[in-house]
Amino acid sequence: MTVVPPLEKQEGPTVLRTGRRHRAPLLVRDLSPEVPFGFLGRVLPTTEPLELTLELYRIPPARALEMLEGARAVAEAELASSGAPGETSRLEVERDSSGALGQAVARGAQELWRTGICFAAVGSSRVRVEAVRARLAERLSALRFRTRVPRYGVAGALRPPDPLEGAPRPSGYWHTLPSDAVAALFPFGDETVAEPAGVLVGLALADASPVFLDRWSHASHSWGIFGTTGSGKSFAAGLLILRTRWMRPDLDVVVLDPLGEFSEFVRALGGTVIRIADGRAGRLNPLDPVTTGGDRREKAGRVGTLLRALFPTLTDGEAAALDAAVMRLYDRGPSVPTFDDLVREVDEVRPSEGRLRALLEVFRTGSLQGANGPTTFHPDSSPVAVDLSGISDEHRAFHLAYVLDWAYGRMRERPGPKLVVVDEAHLLVRHPPTAEFLDRVVRHVRHYDAGLLLLTQSPEDFLALPSGRSTLRNLYATAFLRLPEVSSTARDFFGLTSSEAEWLPKARLPRTAGYSESLWRVGDLHLPLAIVASTPEYELLNATLGKGRTPRSPAGREDGL
Ligand SMILES: Nc1ncnc2c1ncn2[C@@H]1O[C@H](COP(=O)(O)OP(=O)(O)O)[C@@H](O)[C@H]1O
Ligand SMILES: [Mg+2]
Repeated sequence: MTVVPPLEKQEGPTVLRTGRRHRAPLLVRDLSPEVPFGFLGRVLPTTEPLELTLELYRIPPARALEMLEGARAVAEAELASSGAPGETSRLEVERDSSGALGQAVARGAQELWRTGICFAAVGSSRVRVEAVRARLAERLSALRFRTRVPRYGVAGALRPPDPLEGAPRPSGYWHTLPSDAVAALFPFGDETVAEPAGVLVGLALADASPVFLDRWSHASHSWGIFGTTGSGKSFAAGLLILRTRWMRPDLDVVVLDPLGEFSEFVRALGGTVIRIADGRAGRLNPLDPVTTGGDRREKAGRVGTLLRALFPTLTDGEAAALDAAVMRLYDRGPSVPTFDDLVREVDEVRPSEGRLRALLEVFRTGSLQGANGPTTFHPDSSPVAVDLSGISDEHRAFHLAYVLDWAYGRMRERPGPKLVVVDEAHLLVRHPPTAEFLDRVVRHVRHYDAGLLLLTQSPEDFLALPSGRSTLRNLYATAFLRLPEVSSTARDFFGLTSSEAEWLPKARLPRTAGYSESLWRVGDLHLPLAIVASTPEYELLNATLGKGRTPRSPAGREDGL
């Protein structure tokens, strides 16, 4: 039997050697004030032999509050005596952030953690590990971390965690951090983004680890995708439809498609398309109370919303007269009214509102005749696309709103999981009434095992209205593809870091990269992902999506404005 002597440990001033293994520790004197997403992936690339040890102890909330109050009071006292302007602003930040953190700790939204952080370069020679550590220090300093090499303290820095031993660590080892900062120190590929029964939404840009999300396992089943034209929103929606159907073959899909981009795709899946502008596949009667499950009061309210979206110039008097006519229509009109019936109700009022009557003529002899009559479109296959291309811009929001009402009715009626994709969703948030209706749909559809997927160019349209912001808050996942810019309002609303906001205008486009770069907000997580299709997915989507759509307007904006 051979006796293996214990490996000899040798502590040099900056490197610890155990047998032939060299370890060069690096500590952090000051953490970056704001850690960019994916920072560990960039700091610890798999190509460099590096370790990170994190040692965490939760500080009891009462003690945490005392510490924060102490820090706030010290900053306050120093502020009172300090004159230098740079110093003053630093102290103000310190005082305010201790105060805000104190409130978060008191609410139970954050905790404080005593956190030990030690990076170490590992290798077979001292020169090698020194070089790896130097490169790591450079990367950290680029992210605004201040690092230190624990000279003559390497063994103390590298000793394994032992809460009972309590031997001192070199300075720069311990930090007091709130939960958010601790969370940012964890790599992304954790199990919270591999939801069982979820669909693949993308691969982490840092290390290609896959992220699976299950929309049905959360309080809201609705998601949003934002990105400039050509950033890959429609394609991502197509991918999500395919993958969700794969997991849930009974999935019912309805696509509200203002540009007619999804028609070929939906036909390729064996579904049905109705193009509203030509009316060949049938008609959806915007006045049919079936969409509210026969609730005529509720339907009257929605019809009011529709007509206000259609006639934004109505005076208060005209709007009141129209509302009254709609109420009468559902109180005593035919069980399934049409616009002819509504016009009759308006005509009955004396004295009749001349301009209102003229506006409604559009349903009798004008360009909306197609919507005047009973519903004749009853698709029993899935998916269904409602193609709104070829409709004049002034009528888009109206059509989109009653089609959404129809889709909502369909979700309510049908068993099983349902997904409603709304492309160019900004068309609905231009007018407060339709924005409020969309918000209501987003908040209620989960009761019917249904979710919305909203696609639009920019979150700004939504941020401009209270109902739009409510809609955004009720999306479980929000994906940002390339955005031309990120306003400070959007940054604050979504809690994006400044590096995330600076990155989004540079996110790579599928045209050049072959995939979309995106940033997903999922609950509290920020996930930078590549949206990648498999070959059969790509072939199907590339051959069908966007085929046969009407040409873009020369102005470039898809809504023709
Ligand atoms: N993830 C992707 N992988 C490969 N090609 C993509 C991807 N996303 C988009 N594309 C291609 O890029 C182009 C623009 O995508 P599209 O979905 O129409 O963008 P948007 O709807 O945001 O305007 C299309 O030709 C599409 O086939
Ligand atoms: Mg599109």
